[in-house]
Amino acid sequence: RGGNDLAGKRVVVTAGGTREPLDPVRFLGNRSSGRQGVALAQAARARGAEVTLIAAHLEVPAPDDLTVIEVQTALELQEAVTEVAASADIVVMTAAVADYRPAEVRDAKIKKTEAGETLTLELVANPDILAGLSAGRREGQVVVGFAAETEPDPSALIELGRGKLEAKGCDFLVINQVGWTQGFATESNEVVVLRRGGDIVMEASGSKLSVADRILDVIA
Ligand code: C5P
Repeated sequence: RGGNDLAGKRVVVTAGGTREPLDPVRFLGNRSSGRQGVALAQAARARGAEVTLIAAHLEVPAPDDLTVIEVQTALELQEAVTEVAASADIVVMTAAVADYRPAEVRDAKIKKTEAGETLTLELVANPDILAGLSAGRREGQVVVGFAAETEPDPSALIELGRGKLEAKGCDFLVINQVGWTQGFATESNEVVVLRRGGDIVMEASGSKLSVADRILDVIA
């Protein structure tokens, strides 16, 4: 599908989930497997693009025919994607980025005795990377965001997506419903794509690779 329609285009895709360290052995993380992001990177490569994959803790192997930059935290992901985005035609933020990180990273393992019966962690907000990339995008650059939501009502889900699209300022927003057994870590996906302004431009379900190709059709 798509032939060579992305030939010569530079594409950066972020995939996986960031991990925010608490101490040398613990982190705050999420259940993103990186499958949808890896599928997008693969599909873009197959359509002729020059692809950089920024990988945060993938549960699937990264393709070996593209540039891979491994990152751990939201701040590392921000640094990597901002640098590559400066020369990219298309930026796709598939990664599940932690909204908050521990205010303090301990040098030594936090002990149960320090905490007593309850342990309170102080968190600080991470920068919104997608909003920053959208605000700083170059002429002609396409910026795509994802929204993983647990809202079960379809029309409320779209409204959430519209609000997010507006808040992030990206060109397209791919909404997918996630839950304990859906979206993250599964082989298939169901998405709705909104374009700037809030119109639905595409709906797709199926394997993450087929969904990736449908998303690239919209971007191309
Ligand atoms: O606000 P929310 O986390 O739902 O937004 C999801 C989108 O924003 C994804 O594209 C994700 O990669 C991006 N994001 C980001 N920086 C954050 C949080 C999310 O770029 N701190």
